[in-house]
Amino acid sequence: MKKFEIKTDLRKAQDAGAKNNKTEEKEIMAESMAGLKRTHRCTELDTANIGEIVTVMGWVQKNRNKGGIIFVDLRDRSGILQIIFEEADCGAESFAKAEKLRSEFVIAVTGRVEARSGAVNENLKTGRIEVRAQSLRILSESETPPFPIEENSKTKEELRLKYRYLDLRRPDLQRNLMTRSRVAILTRAFLADEGFLEIETPTLIKSTPEGARDYLVPSRVHPGSFYALPQSPQLLKQLLMCSGYDRYFQLARCYRDEDLRADRQPEFTQIDMELSFVDVEDVLDVNERLLQKLFCEICGYELQLPIPRMTWREAMDRFGSDKPDLRFGMELKNVSDTVRGCEFAVFKGALENGGSVRGINAEGQAGMPRKKIDALVEYAKGFGAKGLAYLSIQEDGSFKSSFAKFMKEEELTALVSAMGGKPGDLLLFAADKDKVVFDVLGNLRLELARQLDLLKKDDFKFLWVTEFPLLEYSEEEDRYVAMHHPFTMPMEEDLPLLDTDPGAVRAKAYDIVLNGTEMGGGSVRIHQADIQSKMFEVLGFTKEKANEQFGFLLDAFKYGVPPHAGLAYGMDRMVMLMVGADSIRDVIAFPKIKDASCLMMEAPSPVDQKQLDELSIGITAESETAEKEE
Ligand code: AMO
Ligand code: AMP
Repeated sequence: MKKFEIKTDLRKAQDAGAKNNKTEEKEIMAESMAGLKRTHRCTELDTANIGEIVTVMGWVQKNRNKGGIIFVDLRDRSGILQIIFEEADCGAESFAKAEKLRSEFVIAVTGRVEARSGAVNENLKTGRIEVRAQSLRILSESETPPFPIEENSKTKEELRLKYRYLDLRRPDLQRNLMTRSRVAILTRAFLADEGFLEIETPTLIKSTPEGARDYLVPSRVHPGSFYALPQSPQLLKQLLMCSGYDRYFQLARCYRDEDLRADRQPEFTQIDMELSFVDVEDVLDVNERLLQKLFCEICGYELQLPIPRMTWREAMDRFGSDKPDLRFGMELKNVSDTVRGCEFAVFKGALENGGSVRGINAEGQAGMPRKKIDALVEYAKGFGAKGLAYLSIQEDGSFKSSFAKFMKEEELTALVSAMGGKPGDLLLFAADKDKVVFDVLGNLRLELARQLDLLKKDDFKFLWVTEFPLLEYSEEEDRYVAMHHPFTMPMEEDLPLLDTDPGAVRAKAYDIVLNGTEMGGGSVRIHQADIQSKMFEVLGFTKEKANEQFGFLLDAFKYGVPPHAGLAYGMDRMVMLMVGADSIRDVIAFPKIKDASCLMMEAPSPVDQKQLDELSIGITAESETAEKEE
């Protein structure tokens, strides 16, 4: 805030130095659109328009006063156009106004399109032309903005988010939001052609605490009762299937109170769909064609169909992740059998505890300095590793290793051979429970790829990950929880395992992964009452609890329910990948920061006692203290 004021003062000083007086300034601020009509956006003009009289409007990006001639870069959402003011063409009044222009003033210019008088600017779409002004109106003045409006801004994101309306003037953000708009429009057109109906579902719904934490909205009329904002329209879209709208879609706002990351926002948009009378293949088919269309139209990328598929098991074994990035190799190898029987306590202990020993081969990285390897070990520890065992194969075939001294020569030879190691390679091993090993090596693989610059943003590697486990054991809750949601259909051949080995049941669930990001996911739903009851039983729900939470869905299922399945994309994530943005915030008009607050609106904010009283809400002493401490 301080910075802003200082800059404003500077502008005032500049203005005081200028010739204009205060009365004139007021007059200028009042200029209106009366009798004016924009004829073109800036970059709609080209050499073909030379000789035409046009009217353009926008913001002053830059102005240079060279004495008798003033150059202005005019910016609108399409791009930049050069305007030239000379008194002989525009008259004394407009020229005097042009002399007062500053960056971010909003102006309207009428003039003649001409070939550039100076050098052609190859970097600009309009670099071969300019508009010679005949008249100028200043539609609005601007204080000096708190940061320059320019592509690839170096300004701290915090300041830019506070003044998001200014940040959104920057060409890169404007391009991103325009791409987002095209994604929405193309999606609607494609799905409508495929027989989908766009149907809105409510955003004040019932809290069903399976999944992330809900955002709650207190009811005034029902004191002590709360609506929840939907985490997704999941149950409602299933009800629409019960009602016969056999292909539904929606660009749905979703809300999840979870820890935020670069690809997570508390509110986000899904391209959400549900289809009746279908199985997995039908859902994948229509979605492959949707993706092909979107990536062709938006990125000019020819997506070859079918998109490759990999089971969850294979993805974990080969990449240590259920969303593998296929832009590079460095696959995990399970060397448990190779090292079984060796005396290295770390490997031995992990195997004795039912874990595994797995490794990755960072080819050509044997020369990695010790410091960098130590940093990798620390990185691995961040994912729960107790350590990271390494072995680098020198050009003469000898080893530098943190554990070679604990192993026999033939054991090391066997290990190197199992890893496909050759002189110049660096082998990295994790030994622990499978879950930890996968997490550590899956992330280490990505970290190495980042360090080695293997991740090209314009290389699109799509993958369906299928056959997810139906359930996941939650240590915290001491019960199985649904990995996708409680309405996901088990694979038919695994149904008997629900009684004997629930953890081994695979689901008819699929994720669409692009470049290591989960872009979307879905499943075939359970539409048989007996399987649904079994599922609730395994999840530890009593009949009463199931009815209390999902009664409306279970009731609906009594009256004729078609087999159905669906999928939802994170639209923000999709656009982020399309435009190569590093954060989901760059494709959302008004995003929240890590602590889920909006720096511009300063939301969330305390409310009046009167509002709280109306809602029968009391703030506990504890949270009041927390506020004061902040
Ligand atoms: P799921 O929970 O996998 O499935 O969500 C679908 C997709 O939504 C995106 N996504 C998010 N994007 C931004 N910020 C978030 N906090 C966030 N959380 C999720 C992801 C994800 O793949 N109802 C089911 C879909 C279905 O089964 O049809 C669902 O919501 O890209
Ligand atoms: P130590 O004998 O504990 O010094 O460990 C020898 C080497 O094994 C060191 O490089 C440790 O980082 C590594 N190490 C320790 N625990 C593990 C583990 N769980 N998986 C892989 N390597 C480990």
